[in-house]
Amino acid sequence: MGTRRKFVRDLSALSMATVLPNITIGSNSFNTDKKLKLGIIGVGLRGTSHLKNLLQRDDVQIAAICDIDDKRIEIVKSLIKESGAEQPKVFGKNEHDYKNLLDLQEVEAVIIATPWAWHVPMSVDAMKAGKYAGVEVSAAITMDGCWNLVNTHEETGTHLMILENVNYRRDVMAILHMVREGVFGELVHFRCGYQHDLREVKFNNGKQPYGGGVEFGEKAISEARWRTDYSLKMNADVYPTHGLGPVAVMADINRGNQFMSLSSYATKAIGLNKHIVNVGGPDHPNADLVFKQGDVITTTIKTARNETIIITHDCNLPRPYSLGFRVQGENGLWEVDGNRIYVEGQSPEHRWESSDGWLEKYDHPLWKKYGEYATGSGHGGMDFFVLHAFVESAKRKIAPPLDVYDAAAWSAVTPLSAKSIEEGGAPQDYPDFTRGRWKNRAVLNWIQDNY
Ligand SMILES: NC(=O)c1ccc[n+]([C@@H]2O[C@H](COP(=O)([O-])OP(=O)(O)OC[C@H]3O[C@@H](n4cnc5c(N)ncnc54)[C@H](O)[C@@H]3O)[C@@H](O)[C@H]2O)c1
Repeated sequence: MGTRRKFVRDLSALSMATVLPNITIGSNSFNTDKKLKLGIIGVGLRGTSHLKNLLQRDDVQIAAICDIDDKRIEIVKSLIKESGAEQPKVFGKNEHDYKNLLDLQEVEAVIIATPWAWHVPMSVDAMKAGKYAGVEVSAAITMDGCWNLVNTHEETGTHLMILENVNYRRDVMAILHMVREGVFGELVHFRCGYQHDLREVKFNNGKQPYGGGVEFGEKAISEARWRTDYSLKMNADVYPTHGLGPVAVMADINRGNQFMSLSSYATKAIGLNKHIVNVGGPDHPNADLVFKQGDVITTTIKTARNETIIITHDCNLPRPYSLGFRVQGENGLWEVDGNRIYVEGQSPEHRWESSDGWLEKYDHPLWKKYGEYATGSGHGGMDFFVLHAFVESAKRKIAPPLDVYDAAAWSAVTPLSAKSIEEGGAPQDYPDFTRGRWKNRAVLNWIQDNY
């Protein structure tokens, strides 16, 4: 821990010395002596993971926490005690008590790690209260929700960052580096998605977060308590941002490029029923449920630059984890599955080669510099970087690298895919959350080593 704390001190000094990126739109009130006073709303599995990482930082004070589950509050209080940090103010006496946290003058920024249905109301209230907001993925699940985020940001001038950690994954950042260096040439096609067997996340026994039974909703804990209901009621890609976030940055979406239209198809839904019958038996009360969410949902987005992006949502069948990335341009392509790459003129003719050497050569400056500190922070290190970007942006009160327009555009896949599937795959026009500004918004300099 000593090393980590020293690291954050060094890093703060370093960040001060580096030129700020061209995303400054607020006042720069950053002061190295001052700790960012932060509130966390929702300290379930994800919020607690964020909390553990934030407790490592010298430049953050956890000023307040909020959760309606007393057990989660107790877990977090003991973690804070162990760390030696000051105990935060605690909220959670009902579902709206987070508003009292937002009323605290001293809280400057909040992280929202609650179930999806709460993301928009909590983000909107946070921005209205002037708190720099970081929201977990997806940011919104309805089109009104997406617009609410954008409109509230524009009305209040307060920032919202979508906490998409996969944008900070080491291979993803190396590929972004290669994209920016022109290794793939002009980009043409992308694939990505969320391909993760979530059957044991969607069902548990009410005692453990993963598996052990086939309960969900009131009888379950953690994500099975709220996430599974979307599989029951919604035929849509409900979790697009882990795949789409990284691709959208590579494709300059909202900054010179734009999503123009989308169409989606869903397969039949058999995976969850089969799981319930296999684990709970054919007589289990949940065995007769009819799930709306197709097991594999395939969405194609067309961009203003005439690229296509195929997004796959595949969470109800047995399979190993993969976000299925493919990045393809005029010179060649990278595919995450198989860890393979082909660059014309450099790879052996017509043959794949391992990506390892390329990923090493183009390792992102942030990972080169801070990778050893990040490892252990969760999800292979990327959680450190996404929080780091959030904290550094919040301290300076500047626009985050993944902003409200990104949050809205990436999350809008959910309502648009629902509508397209309902209409037999009919193309849906993509809303322009930037209201035309995407044409002139500058591309961010992602290849830098401060945050
Ligand atoms: N980026 C990632 O890699 C990643 C990983 C896991 C989860 N997530 C996201 O994080 C969010 C939380 O997921 P999780 O796994 O921690 O779920 P969880 O169910 O473990 O935690 C959610 C917490 O929110 C609390 N809560 C619910 N309503 C509340 C309210 N009105 N006020 C205060 N607290 C409330 C619950 O009591 C619970 O403790 C979700 O949006 C999920 O998609 C992201």
